[in-house]
Amino acid sequence: MYLQRRNRILRQSPAIRAMVAETILRPEDFIVPLFVVEGKDVKEEISTMPGYYRLSLDNLAREVKELWGLGLKSILLFVKVPDELKDNKGTEAVNPDGLMQRAIKTAKNACPDMLIMTDVALDPFSSFGHDGIVEGQEIVNDATVEVLAAMSVSHAQAGADFVAPSDMMDGRIAAIREALEENNFTRTGIMSYSAKYASCFYGPFRDALDSAPGFGDKKTYQMNYTNRIEAIKETLMDVEEGADIVMVKPALAYLDIIREVKDSVTVPVSAYNISGEYSMIKMAAKAGILDEEKAIIETLTAIKRAGADLIATYFSKDAVRLIN
Ligand code: PBG
Repeated sequence: MYLQRRNRILRQSPAIRAMVAETILRPEDFIVPLFVVEGKDVKEEISTMPGYYRLSLDNLAREVKELWGLGLKSILLFVKVPDELKDNKGTEAVNPDGLMQRAIKTAKNACPDMLIMTDVALDPFSSFGHDGIVEGQEIVNDATVEVLAAMSVSHAQAGADFVAPSDMMDGRIAAIREALEENNFTRTGIMSYSAKYASCFYGPFRDALDSAPGFGDKKTYQMNYTNRIEAIKETLMDVEEGADIVMVKPALAYLDIIREVKDSVTVPVSAYNISGEYSMIKMAAKAGILDEEKAIIETLTAIKRAGADLIATYFSKDAVRLIN
């Protein structure tokens, strides 16, 4: 054969493959989700997320320092709230001395340069396990947004750099931005979970925080996975309302959405490589079905290639180890 063009030329050695690689993962790409619990020297493995732990504040401080040493630049905090502190109004969510507020201060103290992002939603604080206030069978929007705004201010007061509303109520980004402005938190950013789908892949996370909905599901606020255009509508509205960073969640079954969102906005786009996506790889590796390290890098590269500028992932530490 006399071929004019031989595409395999650019694949024939590690050197040329590295030179023409289009998508390169960097430590700065990752956001590390961390689960915080009360107690001393607690590091308990989450049964449905092998190799991932809930940490007490002392261990959180240690972990944050280690992460910074590895080159990671941001953490995303979640708290597991004792049942007796849960109610239908998110009272504990705005407690200035609550676990989240203490976790923010602990992390800031341990590593002042680390960017601290905080989850803003009622589910870990809700006796119903829902992201908002419940009336009858309904998750009410506007009353919930008021609490989310107060919660955001409380996190900012404790030292959060970014608040990350994950609740999918309407109008919360505008309300949060306004509340931050009113309280002079002009340097606090908002990373909005803007296109968040009602997904079965959140299961392990709800085990981690004991936050599964007590009745029904989250389909009246999280998006229907049949929908694509709606993701653009949600995202553009969040940008308009003041989101600094937008997010698509989950990531793996939603790579098409990541790409479309990336092509539609001028703010950074993050994607959440969620708990179920983590556990699938972990379990398949444990069963000897997949090479764990290769699966991690291929997955994270695909999410970045789809258009994610930032990736929240439980594989952050593995990723920096593997790319170094
Ligand atoms: C709740 C919240 C969820 C996640 C982040 N924030 C779960 C849910 O919506 O039920 C999921 C993260 C994961 O699965 O890793 N506001």
